[in-house]
Amino acid sequence: MEIYIKKNYEEMSRKAAEIVAEEMRKRKNHFVLGLATGSTPIGLYKELIRMHQEEGLDFSRVITFNLDEYCGLSPDHEQSYHYFMFENFFKHINIDKKNIHIPDGMARDLDAHCREYEKMIADNRGIDLQVLGIGGDGHIAFNEPGSSLSSRTRVKTLTQQTVEDNSRFFKTIEEVPKYAITMGIGTIMEAKICLLLVNGDKKAEVFAKAVEGPMTTEVTASMLQTHPRTIAVVDEEAAAKLKRKDYYKHVEKMAGLLKKRVNEKGKNG
Ligand code: GLP
Repeated sequence: MEIYIKKNYEEMSRKAAEIVAEEMRKRKNHFVLGLATGSTPIGLYKELIRMHQEEGLDFSRVITFNLDEYCGLSPDHEQSYHYFMFENFFKHINIDKKNIHIPDGMARDLDAHCREYEKMIADNRGIDLQVLGIGGDGHIAFNEPGSSLSSRTRVKTLTQQTVEDNSRFFKTIEEVPKYAITMGIGTIMEAKICLLLVNGDKKAEVFAKAVEGPMTTEVTASMLQTHPRTIAVVDEEAAAKLKRKDYYKHVEKMAGLLKKRVNEKGKNG
């Protein structure tokens, strides 16, 4: 896993946006971007919007797939992930609406819809880069503790902790949906790059478990340890409990020096 430890949330978001933009530019003709909700990626979306408005970053051919959606919330419900994505990202960029995919929490046949969602990802040749956050109990998307590490898109029952964590967005805890459609761990693991963002001291312990703890269904994010290319971009607070924090910083510095040397060599022939 590549780990970048940034001074604060703003720097974390900028670094993540640079990574997304670089991959987008590399795959101009076909880029499939997996997206996440929650408060963590908002800074990334703001920075991508700025890059679009000020630097012409082009989303016209980008295809997106969101990780998850609550069951029972219509797309115009203010707490639905549909609403979140349009408010925080899509309505500010030049994305073609037909290229946007978000699970439909109102689908009549949820199981059939989950299968169709998997098929749509496959028909688009898979996800190139998947943005991820981490839940308080170590989940990615809505793959709660105990989820199969090879699971596919399906309906999950949310844990009490997740319902409580997410109740901050609702007027009362009773209003928080108890089920969600979520990509599975197996689905996420097929993305070519996983970009995990984590910030704040509340996530320090669970992030250390995900990165340096044993691989376990108890912390489904720990499966990312086996992914061929996971990049974690985090702030200092979230990195506070990492055993190998200094080593990760050393690796980043050494990689930077190497890149500089290669560039200089290129320039001087
Ligand atoms: C929800 C989402 C996850 C997200 C998590 C953390 O459970 N399904 O994708 O990573 O919340 O959210 P936050 O970034 O607000 O801490």
